[in-house]
Amino acid sequence: MDFTDAEKKEIAYLRTRYPEARSLTLPLMWMIQKREGFVSDEAVDLIAAELDIPKIWVEEVRSWYSMFTEKKEGKYVLEVCSNISCAMLGSQDVIDHICKTLKIKIGETTPDGMFTLKTVECLGSCGTGPMMQVGDRYYELLDEKKVDQILEDLRNGKEHEQKPQEWPEYK
Ligand code: FES
Repeated sequence: MDFTDAEKKEIAYLRTRYPEARSLTLPLMWMIQKREGFVSDEAVDLIAAELDIPKIWVEEVRSWYSMFTEKKEGKYVLEVCSNISCAMLGSQDVIDHICKTLKIKIGETTPDGMFTLKTVECLGSCGTGPMMQVGDRYYELLDEKKVDQILEDLRNGKEHEQKPQEWPEYK
């Protein structure tokens, strides 16, 4: 594995902007993630060698940020919030339903490569839980019916636009 010529050019430019080589860890990780879809162990070695920093520093960054992954994930990553507000509003039922429907466990990807299921900490949509994020789209006030519709839409290539928060009607 190596950086492409275009990436090498970009790295040379980035080096002029960051006096500390270590500060390029994130930009280089984005570069790889954008190209490969994930940051493999081989990519960690490459970044560490390029920046002349210990491999563990790069591994720490990869494991800290949830947007970086160690292995290839599904086309759609379903990130269901399992934090307290969503949990009280039924996120476990949503997770169980997705597991049952897609026949996968948390952290797994469907054999067709369409969906990966993850649980995440609070995404700031606590008043409209249970909720999940897919890409940059929030899906809120989830129940089994709504989840089924979302999965079907995504399977059919219908990606949803981000809409304003769907606040529930309180009486
Ligand atoms: S607890 Fe789920 S978004 Fe905050």
